[in-house]
Amino acid sequence: MLKPSRMLFRSTVQCIRGICGTSARLSDNLFVHRDTPEDNPGIPFEFSEENKKRVKAILNIYPDGHKRGAMIPLLDLAQRQHGWLPISAMHKVADILGLPNMRVYEVATFYTMFMRKPTGTYHIQVCTTTPCWLRGSDDVLNTCKSKLGIGVGETTKDGKFTISEVECLGACVNAPMMAVNDDYYEDLTAKDTEEILNDLKQGKVPRAGPRNGRFASEPVGGLTSLTEEPTGPGFGLQAGL
Ligand code: FES
Repeated sequence: MLKPSRMLFRSTVQCIRGICGTSARLSDNLFVHRDTPEDNPGIPFEFSEENKKRVKAILNIYPDGHKRGAMIPLLDLAQRQHGWLPISAMHKVADILGLPNMRVYEVATFYTMFMRKPTGTYHIQVCTTTPCWLRGSDDVLNTCKSKLGIGVGETTKDGKFTISEVECLGACVNAPMMAVNDDYYEDLTAKDTEEILNDLKQGKVPRAGPRNGRFASEPVGGLTSLTEEPTGPGFGLQAGL
């Protein structure tokens, strides 16, 4: 059996007959910036008038000397305005916070919620971590791929849908699930996934939440605890008290 250190080495570097190369990257996101016609520092970015007010409100939350704490909310605001996060929006945020651009790049490349390439109107994020995988996330992901005709990390030609494969989104008790922009769709089957995509294609927003009749994350077969009336104050105390 390999020692842990050796196993780790084997998992990160593949050696074939003495020729070594680093393993394939395990994310859909690009962690370096390459100038493209749609994303380069020459394309100006400005917050809309409405968002300028939001920028001000966000900055007001943070005391002087700690304004950089507003970086993630500002990047999120820029992404919501633009649909994804171009490099000039990062520069704008750095400018507002009085920070070197590099400080913003560090944050924007670390958090996978920041999409640094053009993203569809509907960003479909399918969770494939163990609980979702055991409950059928392969079916959900395959349905998305076949129904939309694109692979993971790709966007449909009409710019409407992007598929991402993501790690746990914190709704494991309703596995399998996927997020579409800010909404969670849970307890999914392939049929549910198809229905959701059909609705989105027709411009309808399907109701978010579980699809198997549950209201939230309660047991599917009804309550198994807390089934009686609560006993009320004083229960179990000695009569003398
Ligand atoms: S494992 Fe899928 S939401 Fe947690």
